[in-house]
Amino acid sequence: MQFLENFNPTLTIASPGRINFIGEHTDYNMGYVLPTAIENKITFKFQKNESNTKCNVYSVGYKGFSLDLNSISISDTEWENYILGVLKEISKLTKKLKGFDCTIDSNLPLGSGLSSSAAMECGLAFGLNELFNLGLSKMTIVELSQRAEHSYVGTQCGIMDQFASVMSKEATVILLDCQSLEYQYIPIDIHPYKIIMLNTKVAHTLASSEYNTRKQECEEGVAIMKTQNAHITSLRDVTRAMLEVSKQEMKETVYNRCSFIIDENQRVLEMVKAFKENDLKAVGRILYEAHYGISKLYEVSCPESDFLVDFAKRNTSVLGARQTGGGFGGCTLNIVHENGVDDFKQKSAEAYKEAFDIDLEAFEVQPSGGTSML
Ligand code: GLA
Repeated sequence: MQFLENFNPTLTIASPGRINFIGEHTDYNMGYVLPTAIENKITFKFQKNESNTKCNVYSVGYKGFSLDLNSISISDTEWENYILGVLKEISKLTKKLKGFDCTIDSNLPLGSGLSSSAAMECGLAFGLNELFNLGLSKMTIVELSQRAEHSYVGTQCGIMDQFASVMSKEATVILLDCQSLEYQYIPIDIHPYKIIMLNTKVAHTLASSEYNTRKQECEEGVAIMKTQNAHITSLRDVTRAMLEVSKQEMKETVYNRCSFIIDENQRVLEMVKAFKENDLKAVGRILYEAHYGISKLYEVSCPESDFLVDFAKRNTSVLGARQTGGGFGGCTLNIVHENGVDDFKQKSAEAYKEAFDIDLEAFEVQPSGGTSML
């Protein structure tokens, strides 16, 4: 792109991906989540240009595109919608946005359940907020980025990913209550264990539509239970006893979805307790339990993720494992003793290659800080 010839960036922003220890699909059900940012990130460089409305965006590996702030609409090129959606949402809040040039580079594997989407949205919003002094709070950046994903990308996501990308702090996980948006930083020290991610390298195309279907199924469950319990507005208000009372009135699938969410919220609180008591065995057990639910009740796993979690169970250096993120592939999160990490990576890679003929990617992550200026 032409702007690259005279590119003189004045601002660099790093926007991280995230892992979620526990609390999957609970965010849009107004429950609890326990995510944190990781070191893998998307880096943005910005400069203002002379124009009032012309913007140029270049992403390494995806080429680039130009746009006019006065005529933003959904693009046929998927990744452009992360940019366009954020610009549209910012324009609704302020008139201060003007022409800019931007380059984007990433060491965050895309489509791997580590939330490259939120990193993209939040990094752009954070950067433009600085560049044009827009005066948006961090929480506004989180919320406008979530809205951008709803309206421009089409995934009716919860708030976890954007929140984790912006608000995380090093060496902690965030206990976020997605109903009240109250949050606490929980320090974690899992020495001598490590967090090892195994990237299945599969990103099933169904993910976005199935995601929205899960959300609808949960809403269906809530609507049925509401006839008996008028105060219920989300699965957050539902107890196991209420679910059992309404079991006969709902499809088995809807029952299973609700059942998973009720347990998953409980698991978040249990895991926080386990971290506070440094009970890493419990942390591991909860991960395995969660994966069972992800796979059999919420049905957002896939053969590749199930294979890796089952394989981890047979390794005595691993305390626990589960698929992390929206599902249908992406990464599994594994808690592995430092002495067994190399062996675990190697054996998993060999077995995975034999089973699926895919080269597994394995890497360590650490709880890291949120979106920041470099
Ligand atoms: C995706 C969504 C999040 C959350 C997770 C599942 O990452 O963006 O809002 O629902 O899936 O926990």
